Amino acid sequence: MKFKPSLIALSVLSFSASAHAEDKVLNLYSARHYQTDEALYADFTRDTGIKINRIEGKEDELLERIRNEGANSPADVLLTVDAARLAKAHELGLFVPVRSKVLEARIPAHLRTEDWFSFSTRARVIVYNKDSVTPDSVRNYEDLARPALKGKVCSRSGSHPYNLSLGAAIIAHQGEAKAEEWARGLVANFARSPKGGDTDQIKAVAAGECQVALTNTYYVARLMRSTKPDEVKLMEKVGVVWPNQATTGTHINVSGGGVLKHAPHREAGIKFLEYLASDKAQRYFADGNNEWPAVEQVKVVNPALDALGKFKADALPVRNLAMYQVKAQMIYDRTGYR
Ligand SMILES: [Fe+2]
Repeated sequence: MKFKPSLIALSVLSFSASAHAEDKVLNLYSARHYQTDEALYADFTRDTGIKINRIEGKEDELLERIRNEGANSPADVLLTVDAARLAKAHELGLFVPVRSKVLEARIPAHLRTEDWFSFSTRARVIVYNKDSVTPDSVRNYEDLARPALKGKVCSRSGSHPYNLSLGAAIIAHQGEAKAEEWARGLVANFARSPKGGDTDQIKAVAAGECQVALTNTYYVARLMRSTKPDEVKLMEKVGVVWPNQATTGTHINVSGGGVLKHAPHREAGIKFLEYLASDKAQRYFADGNNEWPAVEQVKVVNPALDALGKFKADALPVRNLAMYQVKAQMIYDRTGYR
């Protein structure tokens, strides 16, 4: 998800040229940027006649921008990743509630709220070094906190939304005391201080710098689909486990979006969300980042996801992930999961 200043400059120009609410335009603020996006947006414009002005930026920058623009914001729709960030947009009062029969029929109830909707899912899995760890020793998130893995675990920052959302899921299932015990055990097992992104953890596991780590599935899938010799080699060293298959299921997170409170083109915004839930858009949207469609009956053909196989996903409502974010952060602060 790269920041594209040139695109922003272009989009600002087109905003000023389309000041009337009745214009057939949609101003989209998006933290997503994938190859399939061009087709995704072009199809919407062809189907509806609504032109899309796009501003792409980093997740937190876009939130801040919408907040600063306030009632004058030209933004109609925000698309971003992670339940924690979507929840933050909700808490800041940036979204407007949307009632849509299409969205209610298409997006499963646990993947939507009254004002934001998930359009794809990703899972948080355990990766392990095949030379030094057996998959049976890392079947569950709980295993990462057991003394047997002392000095073997690496992690990205506990403050990152992906780890906060996982912490929130553990609180929702097991309560705060158990979640804190888990975080304390995990921190005690670190091979190094948290640093880098998910891909860096996979690389550290392959290199033997640590033996076990957590990562979102699309980072694994991206490496699995890579033809670069060093990445092909790297993935030969790494095994993947779907955690908690015998209990709550593997933690999933989402990417999604909502219509903004001050949207100048609210109807177009709702139409766009409904379009994102269509079969065709779901395939572009999910496959663009090696994710799964939120709409259950839609299937993507993706060799890496097919190779990873089927799994039992945690059915916890995404709004519960949002509910426990702050508590997860407090637990991570207390246990030194920085
Ligand atoms: Fe990511």
